[in-house]
Amino acid sequence: MAKKLWGGRFTKATDPLVEEFTRSIQYDYKLAEYDLIGSLIHVEILRKAGYLTAPEKVKLEKGLKAIHASVKNGTFKPDCACEDIHTDIQNKLEAGVGDLVLKLHTARSRNEQVSFATKMYCKVELAKILDMLGEVDVVLCETAGKNCDLVIPGFTHMQHAQPVYLVDYILAYSEMLKRDYDRVWVAAGNIDLTMGAGALAGTPIGYEKYRVAISKYIGGLKGAGAIFKLKPTVNSLDSVSDRDFVIETLSVLSIMGMHMSRFAEDFIIWSSKEFGFVEIDDAFCTGSSLMPQKKNPDVLELIRGYTGRLYGNLVSVLTMMKGLPLTYNRDMQLDKEPLFSSMEIISTELRLIMGLIAGVKFNKAKIEEHLEDEALYATDLVYYLVSKGVPFKNAHTIIGKLIKYATDNSIEIKSMTERELGKFSGKFKKEDVIKLLNPKVSVRSKKSIKRG
Ligand code: ARG
Repeated sequence: MAKKLWGGRFTKATDPLVEEFTRSIQYDYKLAEYDLIGSLIHVEILRKAGYLTAPEKVKLEKGLKAIHASVKNGTFKPDCACEDIHTDIQNKLEAGVGDLVLKLHTARSRNEQVSFATKMYCKVELAKILDMLGEVDVVLCETAGKNCDLVIPGFTHMQHAQPVYLVDYILAYSEMLKRDYDRVWVAAGNIDLTMGAGALAGTPIGYEKYRVAISKYIGGLKGAGAIFKLKPTVNSLDSVSDRDFVIETLSVLSIMGMHMSRFAEDFIIWSSKEFGFVEIDDAFCTGSSLMPQKKNPDVLELIRGYTGRLYGNLVSVLTMMKGLPLTYNRDMQLDKEPLFSSMEIISTELRLIMGLIAGVKFNKAKIEEHLEDEALYATDLVYYLVSKGVPFKNAHTIIGKLIKYATDNSIEIKSMTERELGKFSGKFKKEDVIKLLNPKVSVRSKKSIKRG
């Protein structure tokens, strides 16, 4: 049985089922790197406070750095018999520095370690997501740039509405990603890494000693000060019981997942035979075990499907935190799996979307077929009559009747004579109508959008 960080007041061994039920190492090993950084800062603070001699400090730092190196080079193996990663690291450190390890936990609690390490994990992972969002945006802009003249039918209620530039459609997703970027930036910036809370009540080490040790440590982390914003705790109770940062992170990731699900849905529809607007690269599709002709957009379907998991993760932490009394409660251990899960889902989805968009081919011939639907130009015909002095409401009714007439009689507006058109309005000139039934003319007539 692995050593615990507690036990003095107990006369009985822990029930094995309790060990299993309370254990978190199977997932919180992901916090190893950040727990080690927290310990290195804590060693600095203990030295300042006089709890460690200079040689003791050096020895502990050496031991911690060796474990840190093993995490970084992938040789760190979590001991799954330990209660959690904090216990595991303490035990591994003991193997390196012996009894000196017993001093490391001076004025410290796992409550603070957990909070510090989880906050740092969020900051580092959110910074990676910021980078990926930037890269996805570059691919979106490149794809838009390669198809800058292409016009497609635009939809509302999934019905043909008006022609739009494909560029605008794709850049609508770029707008969403920009808002996501801003939200991630704010969420990461809102996280303060604090120290000095102890279990909940603060510690006997003076605030100033924390401040000086922290600024010395952060100073040594070249350029990292701004990212990590490490400072002494101003309210120790809040420090150990706050999980807003997890909820905020999960909210931001949920919104991002919702955006990606909408993107996925558009491309699933567009890749269907009925639409045929796009061809998704073989590398991003899968087949059917029975139907040899199938090329399925499973990647996009899973991106759409994982949105449920992202929302579930958010709701699970919100519900777990609801009504919890201050300060730390063990319930809070359950924030890790949803957090890691959402972070991994989003990171993978961003990488997949980057590759998928880069390989998408637009089928111009098929898109042009769809653009032959004259209903797409109905609004332009309304504007035409308005420009001839017909009040908008009347023009709207006239064109509505014209479209119904053409549909009911299976005839095209462009093949109607001026006399036939004249039954709906005397303002129609056939040559003007023909000109207006054109996708390029339609999109170019929209002047309210500033184009670069
Ligand atoms: N693994 C625990 C967590 O993630 C560690 C904290 C335990 N603290 C305590 N006071 N029992 O929350």
